[in-house]
Amino acid sequence: MYITTALPYVNAEPHIGHLYEQVVCDTLARYWRMREPTFFLTGTDEHGDKIVRAAAKAGITPRDFVDRVAKTFRDTWDTCEISYDHFVRTTDPNHVRVVQDILRRVHQNGDIYFARYGGLYCTGCERYYTDREAVNGKCPEHQQPLEHIEEENYFFKMSKYQEPWLRYLEQNPETIVPEGYRNEVLALLRTDALGDLCISRPKARLDWGVELPFDTNFVTYVWFDALFSYVSGLKAEGEKVFETYWPQVHHIVGKDIVKPHGVFWPTMLLAAGLPIYKQLHVHGYWLRGESKMSKSLGNVIRPLDVRERYGIEAFRYFLLREMAYGQDATFTEDALVTRINADLANNLGNLVSRALTMQQKYFQGRVQPLGEPTADDDDVISAFADALRDVPQLMEKLAFHRALEALWKAIDQANKYIVVTAPFTLAKEEAHKPRVGAILHHVLEVLWHSALLLRGPLPQTSDRIFALLDVVPPDKLPTELAWGRHFEPGHQTKAPEVLFPRIETKP
Ligand code: MSP
Repeated sequence: MYITTALPYVNAEPHIGHLYEQVVCDTLARYWRMREPTFFLTGTDEHGDKIVRAAAKAGITPRDFVDRVAKTFRDTWDTCEISYDHFVRTTDPNHVRVVQDILRRVHQNGDIYFARYGGLYCTGCERYYTDREAVNGKCPEHQQPLEHIEEENYFFKMSKYQEPWLRYLEQNPETIVPEGYRNEVLALLRTDALGDLCISRPKARLDWGVELPFDTNFVTYVWFDALFSYVSGLKAEGEKVFETYWPQVHHIVGKDIVKPHGVFWPTMLLAAGLPIYKQLHVHGYWLRGESKMSKSLGNVIRPLDVRERYGIEAFRYFLLREMAYGQDATFTEDALVTRINADLANNLGNLVSRALTMQQKYFQGRVQPLGEPTADDDDVISAFADALRDVPQLMEKLAFHRALEALWKAIDQANKYIVVTAPFTLAKEEAHKPRVGAILHHVLEVLWHSALLLRGPLPQTSDRIFALLDVVPPDKLPTELAWGRHFEPGHQTKAPEVLFPRIETKP
């Protein structure tokens, strides 16, 4: 499995929209690593006029500017437990080499030509807009007036590959998910308006980019450069790595960049003689109030601020649980606090602490035999059999909110199990001690399975629960429930810790 994030532009700092994508890919990568060899790529998109303008504003050279901001991105992901295998920068010499090799090849094949072109251009999007796409002469994304630009440039014969790609997508509809975004791409491909793609910028206008290998007066259009990072990031680890993982590539991107990924990229791959990606997964937007959160609108949430206040695990949980993958979601601190208190502190946190407290109090931490299962035991076992079946399936579909919901349904059931079986009452009589030991053993199995299913979304919490249970986490995802086989009687669990402190809210 090969998983990629989009590469954020480094014209400003990371925000939660970027973090969301990282958390999604990280969760998937951690999940898939338990099943098969997996490679997770992220990095930064560093060329183009947006970057030049941001550097000029900061009063430093583009080179110094991208070095600084790329480091901020990388450091942020490192502190947020993002387990990428390679961090690609589009200014890496290896990346530049890969882009130039491909350009050379596509040019030699006759798929790049030189022509004069005039059109409406948005510097924010770094692309031309057709008259139909413009809204009252303005960019629909940035609401800024489009500029009429006329110049000679190199063009990629995208139209030549439009039909083959359309046919492929019709025959392999699952290549773009969710369906709504596939339909968006199909509609674009079924029009004649697409034409060819301008893939160069004259150096006289912009010199911060990958130089065209066949004309040193031009640099490459930023998308023709950046998309190939998905190839160069793997090749940086060796041809073998590329050959192993490329056939399994899954791109995760936000809905604003469906066109470059759904239209430009597959045609570029066809022209470069590379297989089309396995799947493109499109996610929605995090909003503040009604509006989109973005650097240009200045209403951004900084990941490290939220992490500082609530911890990265609580933040990860919120991002995955609150957004129905594919749709938009609204970020509010109130919703975050509610989730932390209800799901993490009360539900999961209490379960862990109650179980381990009783285990210490009644048995000095020593695990007792399971005994014959009762109807109550069967209910909790079947709740986790369901979770072990459903959570992985939902993860694979990127339905993270439903995967967590499915796990929490089982955790809820386990909390009810403690209330119904009442080990704290039974423990008052010595004769009931074996049953108390059996109930607690079941609850330890509950914790083991919860920790297992949290390995993707909440890796630190998972590690902490396994450490409290004093067992080594499995590195493979079991396909069958092996209830009762994870603790030898006599094994000693540790004293509880508070996993998620309750956040006090104002009355
Ligand atoms: N540089 C391009 C991607 C090149 S990929 C070869 C780019 N960069 S970006 O910084 O604008 O966005 C990076 C990713 O973050 C995109 O997938 C984008 O959709 C996502 N998000 C940016 N803002 C977002 C939200 N507010 N919410 C969710 N994701 C959003 O596009």
